[in-house]
Amino acid sequence: MSGFKKKITKIAFDTDKYLQKYLSKQDKSSYLLNPMKYGLFSGGKGFRSKIIFDTGRIFNINHNILKALSAAVECIHSYSLIHDDLPCMDNDDIRRGRISTHKKFGESTAVLAGNSLLILAFEILSNKKLKLKDRIKNELIYSLAACSGHSGIAGGQYSDLNFENKIVSKKKLIEMQNKKTGKLFSFCCTGPAILVEKESSVKRDLSLIGLQIGLLYQISDDLIDITGNSEHVGKLTRKDDKKGKATLISLMGYKNTLAFADSIKYKLIKKIKKYGTKSSDLLESLEHIMHRKI
Ligand code: IPE
Ligand code: IPE
Ligand code: MG
Ligand code: MG
Ligand code: MG
Repeated sequence: MSGFKKKITKIAFDTDKYLQKYLSKQDKSSYLLNPMKYGLFSGGKGFRSKIIFDTGRIFNINHNILKALSAAVECIHSYSLIHDDLPCMDNDDIRRGRISTHKKFGESTAVLAGNSLLILAFEILSNKKLKLKDRIKNELIYSLAACSGHSGIAGGQYSDLNFENKIVSKKKLIEMQNKKTGKLFSFCCTGPAILVEKESSVKRDLSLIGLQIGLLYQISDDLIDITGNSEHVGKLTRKDDKKGKATLISLMGYKNTLAFADSIKYKLIKKIKKYGTKSSDLLESLEHIMHRKI
């Protein structure tokens, strides 16, 4: 196993453990717990959690506190995937190598389990047992909320669906991808800076770094849709073209998209290196994004 793989596996394992413990203390009679867990503990790669821990390392942040952030982010990410697969959205039956939540439990249950995971993220961050100053908690919640709603994931998902079978400018496509995927990654980089009360300029810089990491992550997801093997990837591939998805690849072609992603990557490396030797994990994750096969 590569060093990267070892690190991300450990972080995903620890985040799941945190979430399992958290959920074990919740209302056992809740009918939604099972579908929530089905969507949450299904072998997601944990890439967003890895970015949180990478940024946390730059500021020497305690892992236990970072776990609360990664738990909240993975809840929101899993919610977004449950909803993304619904028939009214991408209508996908396979997710993370098994049938999608709505196929397993029905559509209405999937909508409600998704909503519950979205809300759970904010419950985790506002929990009394999480020992952080109220001011920090407030800023984390505010920032995560702004990344998740109409100016973040939900807004980006709206555009993604609205742009199907249309020719859309590069600027509008990047805006859509920044919202649907970039914003949550941006929180993964600003969240740790909020935890250690860094000045606004640092938070702004990290927010942009995260946004661009997220953009690259979505571009590589779109590339994998073309070249990836379904069994390997755990979801059906070659579906974007069939659905008429407007992506950078459909606009500029495969090679130009790769070149565009490379140019972003090189600019990002320069920006990240400013944070010194402790930014090596973040650089490693960035390197992995464009080479990933799943
Ligand atoms: C898939 O994300 C959806 C995107 C925003 C690209 P991931 O590829 O991180 O999904 P999991 O969590 O590993 O299943
Ligand atoms: C999903 O993008 C982005 C989200 C915010 C959920 P995709 O629709 O391309 O993700 P996959 O390919 O289904 O995982
Ligand atoms: Mg989608
Ligand atoms: Mg999809
Ligand atoms: Mg995709």
